[in-house]
Amino acid sequence: RRVIPIGVPVDAQGVKIDALESAIQEHRPGLIYAAPTYHNPTGAIMTIHRRRQMLALAKRYGVPILEDAVYHELGYRDPPPPPLKALDEDGLVLHVSGFSKILLPGTRIGYLIASGPLFERLAHVKQAADVCTPGLNQRAMQVYLASGMLVGHLNRVRSELRTRCEAACAAAKRYLPPGSQWVEPAGGLYLWVRLPDDGPTAAELYITAIQHGVAYALGTLFHTDGGGTRYIRLNFASHTPARIEEGFRRLGEAWQAWQETYKPALRRTPIL
Ligand SMILES: Cc1ncc(COP(=O)(O)O)c(C=O)c1O
Repeated sequence: RRVIPIGVPVDAQGVKIDALESAIQEHRPGLIYAAPTYHNPTGAIMTIHRRRQMLALAKRYGVPILEDAVYHELGYRDPPPPPLKALDEDGLVLHVSGFSKILLPGTRIGYLIASGPLFERLAHVKQAADVCTPGLNQRAMQVYLASGMLVGHLNRVRSELRTRCEAACAAAKRYLPPGSQWVEPAGGLYLWVRLPDDGPTAAELYITAIQHGVAYALGTLFHTDGGGTRYIRLNFASHTPARIEEGFRRLGEAWQAWQETYKPALRRTPIL
């Protein structure tokens, strides 16, 4: 069935609840999708107050919430607030997560926590959609989880992510153009950067960045309305600190090159 996503703004405390309520009233959605902890791409953590407000809205308007918690275990500072599902007294939250981000993307194994008749329905829909996740992969994951090794693994991952996040923030400070803005994330894999207004947009800079040997995700990919043109999402998770530094250096170089090559031409008064 066709899905029409409606975007709701997010600030440092997570989804803006007033905007969510207006969107619910206007569009009467069938589902609220939320990534409350280490939101991709902003890294925002929804406060416990907003979590409760979101649950109250879901109850008031009778709309279930799909809670995407794939980054919940990837915090490297203070522990985050509990997942929405842990606060859900009305069976309105479908909690999904998986092992792609914390262990092995290739296994394609995730999980869903739901209550009541919805659970049976979802199990059937999943079966019809992909004729089941490979049994051997599931068995291997079950053996691994039963071994108790995940805890130690997660501690190593968090510590490494923290090192890489710090390397990314230090390199951003050093190499990104003045006026760039970002908030140091407390978890997750990404740095969400706003480029300054007096230069190229993320899309304009993109080819030059590729030519300099660095890539990023365009901010517009994370908006439903074409917004985010000055935002870029940088993934620091899969590189060593030295490569992270080099990536930012190249990005800074690309920005300089773009400014020097194209901006004077654009500034010329157009001849009409
Ligand atoms: C918020 C969020 N949910 C889900 C996924 C996909 O997870 P999986 O690889 O388990 O399909 C991603 C991957 O980038 C993600 O950022």
